[in-house]
Amino acid sequence: MPSFADPFVGNVPRKMTKEELIQAVRLDLAGELEAMFLYDAHSMAADDPLAKAVLADIRDEELVHMGELLELLRQLDPKEAKQFEDGKGEVLEMVEKLKKKKKSSKK
Ligand SMILES: [Fe+2]
Repeated sequence: MPSFADPFVGNVPRKMTKEELIQAVRLDLAGELEAMFLYDAHSMAADDPLAKAVLADIRDEELVHMGELLELLRQLDPKEAKQFEDGKGEVLEMVEKLKKKKKSSKK
């Protein structure tokens, strides 16, 4: 939820260290995820076709923002990028196993 009531909430007294920047980007990523979830829920709950379409469009833009932030994290932290790739590899292994299982069950 917005915290605009505090006029100083956006003021930052100094530049961030790289570690703080990485944490800030992670927090920004969580914000995009939350926004995407809310727009999706509101679009699904709306009856008005224009509202439904606009909210769904904004939801999709939030997914693009998430992709941008994930790539930024990869660029800022090669170790984290490797961990993302490890996770991707684990899922791809499962996909291959399921494909093989499906193929062998058809025989
Ligand atoms: Fe966004």
